[in-house]
Amino acid sequence: MEKISVGIAGLGFGKEFIGIYQDHPLVDKVAICTRNPDTLKKIGDEFKIPPWLRYTDYEEMLKNDELDAIHIVTPILLHAKQTLAALQAGKHTACTVPMGTSIDELKQIVAAKKASGKVYMMMETAVYTREFLYVKSLYESGKLGRIQFLRGSHMQDMGLEGWPDYWLGFPPMHYGTHAISPLLCIDGKLAEYVIGHGSGRISPELVARYNSPFAVETVTIKRKDSDVMAEATRSLYDTVRQYRESFDVYGSKMSVEWEQIQDEGACLFEGGESARRITVPDAYGNLPEEIIPYTKREQVVDKDHVSFIQGAGHGGSHPHLVHEFVTAIVEGRDSALDAVVSANITAAGILGHQSCMEGGSKIYIPDFDA
Ligand SMILES: NC(=O)c1ccc[n+]([C@@H]2O[C@H](COP(=O)([O-])OP(=O)(O)OC[C@H]3O[C@@H](n4cnc5c(N)ncnc54)[C@H](O)[C@@H]3O)[C@@H](O)[C@H]2O)c1
Repeated sequence: MEKISVGIAGLGFGKEFIGIYQDHPLVDKVAICTRNPDTLKKIGDEFKIPPWLRYTDYEEMLKNDELDAIHIVTPILLHAKQTLAALQAGKHTACTVPMGTSIDELKQIVAAKKASGKVYMMMETAVYTREFLYVKSLYESGKLGRIQFLRGSHMQDMGLEGWPDYWLGFPPMHYGTHAISPLLCIDGKLAEYVIGHGSGRISPELVARYNSPFAVETVTIKRKDSDVMAEATRSLYDTVRQYRESFDVYGSKMSVEWEQIQDEGACLFEGGESARRITVPDAYGNLPEEIIPYTKREQVVDKDHVSFIQGAGHGGSHPHLVHEFVTAIVEGRDSALDAVVSANITAAGILGHQSCMEGGSKIYIPDFDA
């Protein structure tokens, strides 16, 4: 099979992906881009990236004809703009979550993806964690039975230290994808409409940033072509809890609840009053041998980065994301998290926040495939 070359933009969380691409058997060259020249040199030297594949200017990297694909891991407010630029430059494009921060941005990306004929993928870690892959396999093998209800949460107590400025006061459901995506991807449904409720209040300095007052936002999601409802809860400031991205599935034969405290183990219910804790195994799926080690927690490059400490290691998802993006390109197919699916997931959060702001209005998700 032909190999592809990839450029990574943003080297905070983005640094985690350099080694995975370098070790992937279907990847040739790996380029990197970050604005700070000192960081660029340090990371470029660490990963032995030749100087001509190092960039401080994103637009310059897009001009490199040797690069087939771009993986964007920059601050949230740049995602849509940089995704559009990459697709318009004829690059296959992967972007970390969220896809964008307005419905208009999502529509523009869906249109640009269609016009380009390239692969788009939102790099949603929550649907490639070992826990998600384990529960999905229980569902697909019939062990869970009929799904009856789904619940997700992403509770984070960010504090004011250590995070980039744009996070302060960020509307919780504008970054709702980790809580929402498993509730849809478990059986491949889209969100049809949302009803959101805001609860509590964050400090006035934080409210002023995005005019987003709620400490907790909770959204009920009606899933298209399904009688199963889902509920997602998200908090970012002024609500105490150990970090958690959770996913609970209630089935007619078996139910699974996410661990309450990190590393305590998920809970499996198999009927009657039975309950037991389980340790979910690492998930290798169809990963090439070379990148299997990245499913392990200890393989993470920068364990001190805040987004990793509060990310619970992202459940070994990183190599699965890379493999899906790369193989979609090489095989000439859409990725599992194509633009239409990613827009639906992201929109459920954006419109969920809008519903919270409107006191619980019912808002339909646009048909991004229309
Ligand atoms: N589980 C997950 O999916 C997950 C986890 C962590 C972060 N993220 C996402 O990753 C993104 C980055 O998060 P982070 O914690 O690394 O942030 P960060 O601020 O630590 O890093 C951002 C990086 O982008 C670079 N950058 C900024 N503007 C740029 C530009 N114009 N061109 C090129 N590079 C530019 C910065 O130099 C820096 O290297 C965020 O959008 C966040 O939503 C996702």
